[in-house]
Amino acid sequence: MSLWEAKDIKEGPVDAKALDRLDDVAVGSDPAIPPSLTPELTEDDLGLDRSLRPRRLEDYIGQTRVKENLAVLIEAARQRHDTLDHLLFSGPPGLGKTTLSTVVANELGVAIKATSGPAIERAGDLAAILTNLEAGDVLFIDEIHRLNRAIEEILYPAMEDFVLDIVIGKGPAAQSIRLEIPPFTLIGATTRTGLLTGPLRDRFGIAFRLDYYNPEELHDIVVRSANILAVEIDRKGAFEIARRSRGTPRLANRLLKRVRDFAAVRADNDITCEVASQALAFFEVDELGLDSMDNKILEVLVETFQGRPVGLNTLANALGEDAETVEDVYEPYLLQQGLIQRTPKGRVATERAFRHRGIPYDLFG
Ligand code: ADE
Repeated sequence: MSLWEAKDIKEGPVDAKALDRLDDVAVGSDPAIPPSLTPELTEDDLGLDRSLRPRRLEDYIGQTRVKENLAVLIEAARQRHDTLDHLLFSGPPGLGKTTLSTVVANELGVAIKATSGPAIERAGDLAAILTNLEAGDVLFIDEIHRLNRAIEEILYPAMEDFVLDIVIGKGPAAQSIRLEIPPFTLIGATTRTGLLTGPLRDRFGIAFRLDYYNPEELHDIVVRSANILAVEIDRKGAFEIARRSRGTPRLANRLLKRVRDFAAVRADNDITCEVASQALAFFEVDELGLDSMDNKILEVLVETFQGRPVGLNTLANALGEDAETVEDVYEPYLLQQGLIQRTPKGRVATERAFRHRGIPYDLFG
């Protein structure tokens, strides 16, 4: 049985399917995964993706401060026999917001129901979700910054007082009734806290920002996953994968599976540094783990604009991508890696970006 089936996820209007859609397994559409690595995904991969996810806090590697905080909050809620305060997780895609939410539910021993901001189209959708919760359940809303404003307002009293205000009828005969709903914990996930309205942000008891994982943490994740997959990997092989995983566990696990395939066909199954390095070159994962869009951004900044500042919209136009995706999905890692900088005049490529593109910095910089 998959770790996520049955016990954790109850059937309902939004459940396991929503988790699948929101999670690691959105084939071909996952911004954390380079397109070159998605087409060969098999059903098997999808099941394995789930089995690699940690279920308990003690198995969760990285995000140490967040984990420590959560452990205290969860224990305090347990001691008081109370529901956990609403939580907000923010950060770029692939860092474990969904995984951490299921870990929280598992630690609390409650069910998790999952949906996303854009999926809740009408007030009735949200009312159905809320009235189907059981006391203490976790409701996970991904991309919560994309909730429709009118629906967001229904959430306020639900979060604060566990009530739903429903208007029945229209015009002068309209009546408002108040329905009690079971106490629950809302976990909101967003790539952009800046886009959350003040009133919604204020209703979360605590907000956590997830950061990119360092190579040591990713190494440990790769080793843990290799154990689950019964793959032999040495320390340097695991580091090679970790180093090229864009700071993202989701990508580390995906690369591990592709390297495992390569090792089975071109080597003797064991993953050494040499095998990992050959496999990653074969799958066109570059030295820094940058995907084709990351590289295209650097190409535009370094080659097309020759190191001059470029506004976000101009950059997005040149890439044929929307500005929000460039800003939320691609820029954070390039900034963190010191490949680009944000200046008042626009985005600029750094010396490291020039070097990565093989262009002398002095020429333009
Ligand atoms: N698999 C994916 N993310 C993980 C994490 N943070 N810890 C352990 N295994 C993982």
